[in-house]
Amino acid sequence: MTTPSLTVPAAPQADADWWRQAAVYQIYPRSFADSNGDGIGDLGGIISRVPYLQQLGVDAVWLSPFYPSALADGGYDVDDFRDVDPKIGTLAEFDEMVAALHDAGIKLVVDLVPNHSSDRHEWFREALASPKGSNARARYIFRDGKGENGELPPADWTSIFSGPAWTRVPDGQWYLHSFATEQPDFNWEHPEVHEDFKHTLRFWSDRGVDGFRIDVAHGLAKDLGEVLPSKAELQAMPKDGTHPLWDRDEVHEIYAEWRAVFNEYTPARTAVAEAWVETPERRAKYASPEGLGQAFNFDLMEADFDATHFRDIVTDNLAQSAATGSSTTWVFSNHDGVRHATRYGLPPRAGRDVKQGAEWVLAGGPDEGIDRELGLRRARAATMFELALPGSAYLYQGEELGLHEVAEIPDAQRQDPAFWRTTAEDRGFDGLGRDGCRVPLPWAREGESFGFGTGGAHLPQPAWFADFSVEAEDGVAGSTLEMYREALRLRGELQSEESLTWDEEVSTGDVLAFERPGGWLSVTNFGDAPVALPDGEVLLASAPLTAADGTAQELPGATTVWLRRAEA
Ligand code: GLC
Ligand code: CA
Repeated sequence: MTTPSLTVPAAPQADADWWRQAAVYQIYPRSFADSNGDGIGDLGGIISRVPYLQQLGVDAVWLSPFYPSALADGGYDVDDFRDVDPKIGTLAEFDEMVAALHDAGIKLVVDLVPNHSSDRHEWFREALASPKGSNARARYIFRDGKGENGELPPADWTSIFSGPAWTRVPDGQWYLHSFATEQPDFNWEHPEVHEDFKHTLRFWSDRGVDGFRIDVAHGLAKDLGEVLPSKAELQAMPKDGTHPLWDRDEVHEIYAEWRAVFNEYTPARTAVAEAWVETPERRAKYASPEGLGQAFNFDLMEADFDATHFRDIVTDNLAQSAATGSSTTWVFSNHDGVRHATRYGLPPRAGRDVKQGAEWVLAGGPDEGIDRELGLRRARAATMFELALPGSAYLYQGEELGLHEVAEIPDAQRQDPAFWRTTAEDRGFDGLGRDGCRVPLPWAREGESFGFGTGGAHLPQPAWFADFSVEAEDGVAGSTLEMYREALRLRGELQSEESLTWDEEVSTGDVLAFERPGGWLSVTNFGDAPVALPDGEVLLASAPLTAADGTAQELPGATTVWLRRAEA
């Protein structure tokens, strides 16, 4: 079966379409590289590692929030949307970073957080200093409390990170925060909120930013009448465009306004939505060319390593993107999830109440519970599968080193509000939180912070980081880093039209094979037992292909191979 193919230009990297099939590398700035030894990654650190990114072969960088922040939520609590946190740099260094990336042929996508600000944002301070009913309060979502003296919250809602979603201010009113207490939600019915975000989009676009990653894109529009529904009522309501809080249809009016701003630039600025929605059809609205243009698809991040699941996910998502005119996206790891090398070393999870891998972290990361080697082997195979697919691949810093999740973080050193807002009795969806994938990267085998900087690291790095450091893998044949480099180089060379054809002959049982235009064949063996290697010139494999007896070439279990075959 050939998936619907789009009429896209033959050279997908042609400037206006650079995003369609880009390999985008996510940098979590405070944990990437530290240039001044204070234990916190910074823009200077990123600038110094641009040659590394160039050698890795990524098309773009997505930078998680670098704005001034008290770090109540890892920087997703923004004090000022148009500045750089002084702890990690200056606007001048930002410009220098943009120039260095662009000189290296790498685009820059920045994270934008429009659902909420931090409680230190000047607007929120003004709201607190202003009376009930003022314009300053109307930019956020304030309500009177219930009970005789308004001492009860306006509703019994819980925040995404657990704990109450409403917090009381000194004069007795309450404000809504869908996330941490320090993250008050904006009121997107207020025209000044619209104007201010358009100002921000232009501010960064004028500084050369190529695109935006839109945080919680499904949350902005809300419909809160006088009488608020209860938590139970909210949970029972369908998320079909009419839910009071999530994925409301009118959110797309905001993105239509933003599209007009994006299109003021040449090439048009791009955007990718983080939108947790009920169905792929609803996701497609965010990806529309009249809106943000692209949306994350987290299906692979949530799937077990399984040929049938993977095939269904690819088929569905290609059909969806063809219907919207966008390109599809693929993600295995990011700053919110348990790293895929770890997930794939664990038995498939039983339920869906906690994030995949979170139970293992919660149990203290026991050695008995995991096959680390198998996890990494599968992760490498999965990544090569991903990099052969049409569409954009979003990679998370450290996955190119084969990093596992760090489970061994003492409670006292954890930072994530998803940890601090819960208790041992009531751990939420995130378990112990998301710090385990945010530990500063190991660049060297030795040194106080494994080359992250000259000082320490703001989250503790385990001893095993030495063997996963850039230094340990650089130039080593077969290392995960060298596999990523070679795969990205080949991808750049082989990438063409956004279509694939499943090879039904090779795709049997645990094996999934698809061909891209130009005779590029990707074959993944999801099973344990080796299978025969299909014909073709071997370009790259995620594990050695030689049989145990050294005689014949085979495709072992948990391995992906790329082949080039003559076109029929
Ligand atoms: C998004 C981010 C996450 C953050 C949340 C609140 O889901 O990816 O890291 O905590 O939004 O901004
Ligand atoms: Ca620093």
